[in-house]
Amino acid sequence: MHPMLINAVKAARRAGAIINRASQDVGSLKIHSKTYNDFVSEVDHAAEQAIIETLKEAYPDHGFLGEETGKTRMDAEHIWIIDPLDGTTNFLHGFPQYAVSIACMSQGQLTQAVVYDPTRNDLFTATKGRGAFLNDKRIRVSNRSKLQESLIGTGFPFRDFKHLDTYMGMFKDMVKKTSGIRRPGAAALDLAYVAAGWLDGFWEINLSAWDIAAGGLLIQEAGGIVGDFEGNETWLDTGNIVAGNPKVFAQMLQTLEPHLTEELRSNYHAQK
Ligand code: IPD
Ligand code: CA
Ligand code: CA
Repeated sequence: MHPMLINAVKAARRAGAIINRASQDVGSLKIHSKTYNDFVSEVDHAAEQAIIETLKEAYPDHGFLGEETGKTRMDAEHIWIIDPLDGTTNFLHGFPQYAVSIACMSQGQLTQAVVYDPTRNDLFTATKGRGAFLNDKRIRVSNRSKLQESLIGTGFPFRDFKHLDTYMGMFKDMVKKTSGIRRPGAAALDLAYVAAGWLDGFWEINLSAWDIAAGGLLIQEAGGIVGDFEGNETWLDTGNIVAGNPKVFAQMLQTLEPHLTEELRSNYHAQK
């Protein structure tokens, strides 16, 4: 394992232990709402602190982009992108679908990825150019070739409803053109499932970099494709993401295309 990945795994397991301990008694946690429908608990903060402490000890000069603590040293050569608890709403309800997500971006390229599911002890890892793994076993995206036979993951808009009508149009078409849609509630884990071939594809509007950085690299290293709604590279910046095995990815883009508003196109942000 790449030394940077070893440290990322150590950090993810520490966060996972904090999350597992807290899951025994979610009722006693202090929770507050960041914005409408966006909750954060003391566990999110403690997990992020443990991750950053672990990585800082090994790499004092690296930068960090953490969901709960924001940006530090963004001009560093290596930047760690962290979601300490992806799927907080699930966690707070005792619904066992959430994960720790850690990625490293080195000179603008994603190089390391860890998505750790502490409920199942499932560890998904990837290093750029070295493939993707689940608990030390190599994983690949599925080879299903027809969208009509595919199982597709997604996420519903839930705190910002600006794109809700657009999303519902996409959703209706996808429901008709696939064999099933799932909304498990933790984007990082959804992407890991695409990498493992358990889902054939995934799409969501307006995610954050910490939701998708690690999962995106896992999929690329598992032989899949990740893009924005026009198949381009802006997915990490815009959070508008489509992913899948290469055949399903192309059919998803075709299905979503008629629903795209200007704001969901690749050049929208570049023009601003
Ligand atoms: C959320 C989850 C969810 C997705 C949301 C994310 P959080 O992350 O990944 O599946 O639909 O958009 O914000 O807030 O639980 O870390
Ligand atoms: Ca998240
Ligand atoms: Ca989170």
